Amino acid sequence: MAIARNLLLLISALSSSSVTSAASSSSGLPFVINTWGGPFTAATDAAYLALVNGTAATALDAVEVGCTTCEANQCDGSVGYGGSPDESCETTLDALIMDGATFAAGAVANLRRVRSAVGVARAVMEHTAHTLLAGDQATAFAVQNGFVEEDISTPDSRAACAEWRAAACQPNYRVAVSPDASVSCGPYTPLQVDNTTSAQTQASHDTISMIAIDASGAMAAATSTNGASHKVPGRVGDGPIVGSGSYVDGEVGGCGATGDGDIMMRFLPCYQAVESLRRGLTPQEAADDAVARMVRKFPTISSGIVVVDNQGRHGGAGSGWTFTYAYRGGVMNETVVVSVPPIDTADSSLAYRGQIQL
Ligand code: GLY
Repeated sequence: MAIARNLLLLISALSSSSVTSAASSSSGLPFVINTWGGPFTAATDAAYLALVNGTAATALDAVEVGCTTCEANQCDGSVGYGGSPDESCETTLDALIMDGATFAAGAVANLRRVRSAVGVARAVMEHTAHTLLAGDQATAFAVQNGFVEEDISTPDSRAACAEWRAAACQPNYRVAVSPDASVSCGPYTPLQVDNTTSAQTQASHDTISMIAIDASGAMAAATSTNGASHKVPGRVGDGPIVGSGSYVDGEVGGCGATGDGDIMMRFLPCYQAVESLRRGLTPQEAADDAVARMVRKFPTISSGIVVVDNQGRHGGAGSGWTFTYAYRGGVMNETVVVSVPPIDTADSSLAYRGQIQL
């Protein structure tokens, strides 16, 4: 089964545009890899070219450039301003940046009225001794650091929110409330919780998570997202959580995640994957293992992670959807997109070294 899966990954890679190497080999340095293809490849190209032409001096600069590109062009609408409005129609942002050499990290959660979430995350890293700032105080910090405070809603995000309200506020993340949130808008009051109530899984959840290796071999990672559409105001996803949205240890490798952050953050899948690399698993094995752990507890979870070792060898795994990731390294002329079929939970070879009982 493992051979069949690797063959499938290779065929997927070969059928995407401009393949110069198989999914798990290294293209050389500098190297950039991130969740998702399509519009997210603009971020891959921006980060890679910034390293090649020197406008990004380091891997840390490159992941900031890449995620900022996605925040500015909105990628598929799931990153940056004007996407995923919450129940009150507001777009809020989560972001994280991490230096694989120093373990310095900065993050913002539920950032309001500021576009450059990953830039503010870097300011948290460089101008505080903290790791994570949230909400209005993160906005105040951003303004103190020269970022512009502005309305980050758009006509599209306002229309999406109005449509949601017209559709009886469906889908809806409230549970055990009155009136019944599965058929009705709020305001809600809590009901007695019983074991039959179950939470709505996310209806939308894409994210850019990026790892870069610069020519010196230094590594960095970053994540940026506007979270889940129609979330409860104040909700923070996996994006700004170190080890969940992304993670990097330059001695070993890095990982970036996308998917249902409310569940994924309970597993720290990127920490798990990087530690698996440290213990000798390949990037593909580490990705499969981290996703299999989540699927075992939550069989319908939508997830995707991309894992890269410090040489640029990579792999990806996902569940609940066909996950894609993009990479560009060495002297590649263009970005390659790898399509990853959902993990096959019947594949007993995923129980690497007996860690997982599926
Ligand atoms: N993975 C993005 C989120 O759930 O917020």
